[in-house]
Amino acid sequence: QRPNLRLLSCPGTVAKDLRRDEQPSGSVETGFEDKIPKRRFSEMQNERREQAQRTVLIHCPEKISEKKFLKYLSHFGPINNHFFYESFGLYAVVEFCQKESIGSLQNGTHTPSMAMETAIPFRSRFFNLKLKNQTSERSRIRSSNQLPPSNKQLFELLCYAESIDDQLNTLLKEFQLTEENTKLRYLTCSLIEDIAAAYFPDCIVRPFGSSVNTFGKLGCDLDMFLDLDETRNLGTHKTSGNFLMEFQVKNVPSERIATQKILSVLGECLDHFGPGCVGVQKILNARCPLVRFSHQASGFQCDLTTNNRIALTSSELLYIYGALDSRVRALVFSIRCWARAHSLTSSIPGAWITNFSLTMMVIFFLQRRSPPILPTLDSLKTLAEGNNCTFCSEFFEYFGNFAFNKNSINIRQGKEQNKPDSSPLYIQNPFETSLNISKNVSQSQLQKFVDLARESAWILQQEAIDRPSISSNQPWGLVSLLLPSATNRKSFTKKKSSKFAIETVKNLLESLKGNRTENFTKTSGK
Ligand code: GTP
Ligand code: MG
Repeated sequence: QRPNLRLLSCPGTVAKDLRRDEQPSGSVETGFEDKIPKRRFSEMQNERREQAQRTVLIHCPEKISEKKFLKYLSHFGPINNHFFYESFGLYAVVEFCQKESIGSLQNGTHTPSMAMETAIPFRSRFFNLKLKNQTSERSRIRSSNQLPPSNKQLFELLCYAESIDDQLNTLLKEFQLTEENTKLRYLTCSLIEDIAAAYFPDCIVRPFGSSVNTFGKLGCDLDMFLDLDETRNLGTHKTSGNFLMEFQVKNVPSERIATQKILSVLGECLDHFGPGCVGVQKILNARCPLVRFSHQASGFQCDLTTNNRIALTSSELLYIYGALDSRVRALVFSIRCWARAHSLTSSIPGAWITNFSLTMMVIFFLQRRSPPILPTLDSLKTLAEGNNCTFCSEFFEYFGNFAFNKNSINIRQGKEQNKPDSSPLYIQNPFETSLNISKNVSQSQLQKFVDLARESAWILQQEAIDRPSISSNQPWGLVSLLLPSATNRKSFTKKKSSKFAIETVKNLLESLKGNRTENFTKTSGK
């Protein structure tokens, strides 16, 4: 049978990558054609970017009449949609139907003048609304929530779920990025693009990582990629002529130094002129140099990188994997929450496992199931529909017993391979195959992961035998896994010790049997 080209016609660079590797005469039945996301990753990104360019961010007074606010704004042009949210104050995100409306709004706006300070003029799309007369209307504005639920709220919801599968799906629903949060992420990138355009007029600032790969959780950081390819490409087709553009060919000794220089000036620029950008840190000596800052109005912690196209490809790969089977995202979200609850992951860089590595481990595990739930990157094979068991405990069992000491994880081929070096955890980078994406992980962090995985598998297995009734409102299933380790360990050791106690009593009885006569004699002899 010929390879199924319907899959291969699926758009995007990852899909193209798959196509290149496909054996032309091989027999490939995928079963995944219909599941590949209908919208190309790049199409989706471009559409959202264009929306964001027609959007403004407005800091509003606490008491505001939504009706009057919209009526006033519609003087500048028709509004497509809007929402309010609370960060440090009340903010509105307003998307106009046409980009031109923003120019009219900017023209009708004055820059602040302060007695003691001087404003540096910059026409941003971030406004402050000051009302001369506070409105008397006190209707509450419905504001969209940008934060994940608290542990208490989450545990309550999870305890009332019907099964562990149901718990995984509930957790996903509560944590995944909302439409509004996604809009705010694209808008923030677009606002940063306005600032970066002061240096690089044709640049594009694209979100990547968990903001766009469908594995993002409310509150996750915003990874941004400064794409300068437009600027580079503008000159590439001009191969003849007498002029060389001095700016384009300004030389530095290496690409890394070019990246550092670009990020260095942008860091300065954001620090001095970026509205709402605070705590700017230039982290230029990292393996992947970046500028980190807080975008106060949106509340996002931002990491800006450049020359990092591979990360965009990884985001697309995860985007496709996330769409192939509805259980993928549910399991990834739960494993990420579990790892966070036990401090296996951290927001501070260090020797811990990253969320990205964890996601790769889940994908690998799903590739290794029989039948596989996910195809390998190299070849998409026929996959039967998986049964409806909870593979959460199987995930823990799988990695609780994985031979990390000799094997590496390879999602390109969907199999373990001998480790090429002695890193405790080796997960091959699917696009730069000589690199390990979890090189930073220490032996003790890996051991902690393995111990917790075993403990969690054990807890789930015990519950399968002896599950508390739903009405008892006792933590069960996922909740027991997400509770802080100490509590868990208590119940773990309690259960273990009660098992131990039974064993001890049994042994004691056995030994009593042997000594019975003696004891009996002694007692009766009293
Ligand atoms: P969050 O924890 O929700 O932010 O997940 P994330 O996937 O966004 O992870 P993070 O912010 O740490 O990294 C952003 C993106 O950079 C990831 O999605 C990957 O595409 C890429 N990335 C992160 N770490 C590595 C790595 O070690 N190697 C490679 N090649 N890419 C990485
Ligand atoms: Mg991230």
